[in-house]
This record gives sequence, C-alpha cells and structure tokens, in this order.
Amino acid sequence: MDLGITDRVAIVTAASRGIGFAIARELAREGARVFICSRSAENIIEAAYRIRAEVGVEVTGIRANVTSEQEIERFVAEVLNQAGRVDICVTNAGGPPASTFDEADLEMYRRAFELNTLSAIRLARLVIPEMRRNRWGRIINITSVSAKQPIEGLILSNTTRAALTGWAKTLSAEVAADGITVNNIAPGYTLTERQTELAEARAQKLGKTKEEILAQWAEQTPMKRMGQPEEIAAAAVFLASERASYITGVTLQVDGGYVRGIF
Ligand SMILES: NC(=O)c1ccc[n+]([C@@H]2O[C@H](COP(=O)([O-])OP(=O)(O)OC[C@H]3O[C@@H](n4cnc5c(N)ncnc54)[C@H](OP(=O)(O)O)[C@@H]3O)[C@@H](O)[C@H]2O)c1
Repeated sequence: MDLGITDRVAIVTAASRGIGFAIARELAREGARVFICSRSAENIIEAAYRIRAEVGVEVTGIRANVTSEQEIERFVAEVLNQAGRVDICVTNAGGPPASTFDEADLEMYRRAFELNTLSAIRLARLVIPEMRRNRWGRIINITSVSAKQPIEGLILSNTTRAALTGWAKTLSAEVAADGITVNNIAPGYTLTERQTELAEARAQKLGKTKEEILAQWAEQTPMKRMGQPEEIAAAAVFLASERASYITGVTLQVDGGYVRGIF
C-alpha cells in the first residue's frame, strides 16, 4: 500500500529516542520531510543524524522543550521557515512520574498537565491554522493505555491522558470538515530506553534483576511480550497517511491486548 505521504512535512516532538524517534524514522522512510525536537540540542542533533544515516533523507533536529511556549513557537516557526508548511504533527513528550493520590501534590498535577496535556494543545494551536489553509492535516497524540484503563500508581498519567483524549475528540469534530484528522495512539508496555531505565531502578529497589521486572511487565500483556517502538511507529505512520483519511477522533491501542475493555 502506498501511504501517500511523500514530501509531506512532519513534526515529531520529544523524538531523540524511544517512541518519538521510531515514529520520526518511519515517517522519514515513507518520504516525509521530518523535523524533530527534544530538550537537549546534543541528543536531538544526534538523533536526526542517525535517521539521516540510516534512511538517507534530510531530517532536522531542533532543541525545544514541549513545556515552553517560546521554544515551541520558535520550533514551529523554524519548520515553516524551512519547509513552508506543516502537514503532520505527532505530539509526544516524556512521561510524568509514578505516584498515588497521597503522594501527588497540586504542583505535580500542574507539571504533568503541562507535559502531557497542554504541550499537545499548544502545538495544535500553532499548526492547525496552517493545516486549515492547506485543507489537509494529521494530528496524532501519543498518550497511553492509561487513558483507557487507569494504571495503579500512575495517577498523573491516568488523569492527564484522559484529559487530552477528551480534548482531542472535541477538536476532531471541529476540524473534520477542514480535512484535518485528530487521533491518539495509546501504547502499552513498550521496550524503550525509559522502560529499561525504570526496570533497572525498580529491580534495584526490590532486589531483583532488570530481566525479572521486564518479564513481569510482559506477563501482564496477553501477547506475553513488550511492544517494540517500531510497532507504535507503524500505527502512527498509518494514521498520518493519506490512506487513513476517514479515521478521526479515535484512540488506537497498540498494546498487545493489554486493555481488557471492549471499546
Ligand atoms: N514506553 C512505554 O511503555 C510507554 C507506554 C505508554 C505510554 N508511553 C508514553 O509515551 C511517551 C514516550 O515514551 P518513551 O518510552 O519513548 O520515552 P523515552 O524513551 O523516555 O523518550 C522520551 C523522549 O522525550 C524527550 N523529552 C522528554 N521530555 C521532553 C520535553 N519536556 N520536551 C521535549 N522533549 C522531551 C526525550 O528527549 P530529551 O531527553 O533529549 O529531551 C526523549 O527523546 C511518554 O509520554 C510515555 O509516558 C510510553
């Protein structure tokens, strides 16, 4: 199937590693002109270089923190300056810290809302006018299975992802007639650098090995394995494609069957 996104201009935030990086690389493989950002200039330039070396196309890495209004405005302005348009916008960020109701103070909720909800809303406000002008656009928010099935001990993720999902569904209806689709991808346990680091930290705390912790996570999934970032990327690139033109307002789980609900 030809995904029909050759020469489309794509933004992927928080893409120096993990899921964001895998999505950026897959979009580049499909012929999109890709711009990526993260908080560290060194990391993001290195990531852009790695994709260029592997795929053989131009990818631009720019330092921008998704929680900073000025930095994200500058990032989008630079994309428009270099490419003249934005067609695809993948909103990704780091994850909020694990915590329970008793552990989380209001400041932690504010920070998590900034990182995982407002960051996507801010980007959409910048790119949707461009997409409207071109009567074509794709917004893909990377959320989490926690938006569908709250995860114990992750009250910040459970709260902010659900908020973003409600916002995205509302937005999808408001921009549908302009040729813009808005969808979410909800990853389950995915073997990224972050998950490996979390497993290491948890293993030390519990006196177990990293492998034992990773095996426990895999065991919670009907497929009995963790996902690969490339498996999330494949779904994201499909939703970003011409072929996904009649899909909007959905949350697609890419989770090996982790979410047990029917819808
Ligand atoms: N992996 C999973 O199992 C899983 C499951 C469900 C949901 N998710 C969610 O999916 C997202 C990506 O997860 P991941 O596992 O790929 O994480 P990861 O391996 O930790 O990668 C996070 C990326 O985000 C960048 N980043 C972090 N904070 C940023 C900020 N404020 N502004 C700009 N860039 C920022 C990091 O780069 P720099 O350090 O260079 O800034 C890095 O490139 C997270 O929101 C996570 O909670 C992950």
